[in-house]
Amino acid sequence: MTTEDVVEECKLLYLAGMETTSVLLTWAMVLLSMHPEWQDRAREEVLALSGMRNKPEYDGLSRLKTVTTILLEVLRLYPPFIAISRKTYKVVEIGGVTYPAGVVVDLPVLLIHHDAGIWGRRARVQAGQVRRGVSKAPPTFFPFGWGPRACIGQNFALLAAKMALTMILQRFEFELAPSYTHAPHTVITLHPMHGAQIRLTAI
Ligand code: HEM
Repeated sequence: MTTEDVVEECKLLYLAGMETTSVLLTWAMVLLSMHPEWQDRAREEVLALSGMRNKPEYDGLSRLKTVTTILLEVLRLYPPFIAISRKTYKVVEIGGVTYPAGVVVDLPVLLIHHDAGIWGRRARVQAGQVRRGVSKAPPTFFPFGWGPRACIGQNFALLAAKMALTMILQRFEFELAPSYTHAPHTVITLHPMHGAQIRLTAI
């Protein structure tokens, strides 16, 4: 690799890794404020595992079932990337339609994640549904993409999000401030257009 290649890779890692995990955490806090019963359940799990102040251990984080389910459900409802695209490099047939080379195919992550026909009305993502993209079946949950070019940072992102959420739940109860306006909005990633005003109370 040239020095320029290394610099570009560093920029990609920074852009791909920071904003995405940050909006995941933001939406997690917004949704846990909207659904305090889930906030309580998550806190109970975290306190049972790590107590009030102890830094969560790596092994402990992998045992957080409720917190993991919540983060996956947040990624279903508010995927940081609402669409992923691919470009055909040769003639290819998809779903009975033949496309020439050079066609950009948009994969509407957000729409598929919200499709009531796939998910039903009271759906919840299960931990087993996050796979590495080796399955031939069309993916219904793919916030990290799918196939050989899927996100290389997905385990790291979930670990970082679990660590951060655990440390917040250990220390604070939180609720939406009256000024919060729900307006999901996309500027590269999906984020709250007017910010996420959240009131924290130390516990
Ligand atoms: C919630 C957090 C994250 C989400 C939702 C996310 C999502 C994605 C998506 C949708 C792609 C494109 C996959 C495709 O085209 O099929 C991608 C690629 C990528 N992600 Fe992430 N990502 C996250 C966190 C991270 C982190 C923490 C890192 C690095 C530390 C990272 C590094 C990358 C890189 C390097 C690629 C390009 C992989 C390639 O083209 O081979 N991502 N990510």
